Amino acid sequence: MRVGLGTGTTMSYALEALGRRVREEGLAFAGVATSMATERTARRLGLPLVTLAEAGRLDMAIDGADEIDSKWRLIKGGGGAHTREKIVAAQADRFLVLVDESKVVRRLGSAFPVPVEVAPFAVHPVTETLRRLGAIPTLRTDAERTPVHTDQNFHILDAFFEGGIENPEALGRAIKNIPGVLEHGIFAGYTTDVLVGDETGDVRTLAKST
Ligand code: A5P
Repeated sequence: MRVGLGTGTTMSYALEALGRRVREEGLAFAGVATSMATERTARRLGLPLVTLAEAGRLDMAIDGADEIDSKWRLIKGGGGAHTREKIVAAQADRFLVLVDESKVVRRLGSAFPVPVEVAPFAVHPVTETLRRLGAIPTLRTDAERTPVHTDQNFHILDAFFEGGIENPEALGRAIKNIPGVLEHGIFAGYTTDVLVGDETGDVRTLAKST
């Protein structure tokens, strides 16, 4: 199989597990990394990697999420990797989302902002437009208060919507339409499979409402 490999702390467990199966069972697949961090981890674990161009269409992509609602819509990008993650998810026949119970929410955006990857030149106008859309935007910075740089060398605006997001699809289209925005962290229409794990190691699926 050709498999997209997501980014984040949840995915790091999945990568470790895949690494074990490669070593112990000779599991064979070609992975496409969604970030430089995942690429480094995959190489350390001996996971076979190919580029997206080499892989073409993917059988599956596996990734974590910051929030998931009952319609299997997501907020992603807490780690700033959502642009490549969305590109890879869009190339995959199946998109498997791995979360714990804390990520399952009634309304997207109630607790987590929408990460918006933006060209450094456009930070000011995009901030203003996000405010007009009802957001409280914050430029993401590191411990030294320097704006973070993504794998694309862009910045991230975290757009918080007080009370959550009423229509994630419409909001996603509006944000995507702002000049200077590369991608946002609302993922609607990609998820095909969900596994919810808890601290005892039990795993359940999440019922999908229409
Ligand atoms: C990376 O930018 C994100 O989209 C992550 O996939 C998401 O934030 C989940 O990360 P954790 O598993 O670390 O919570």
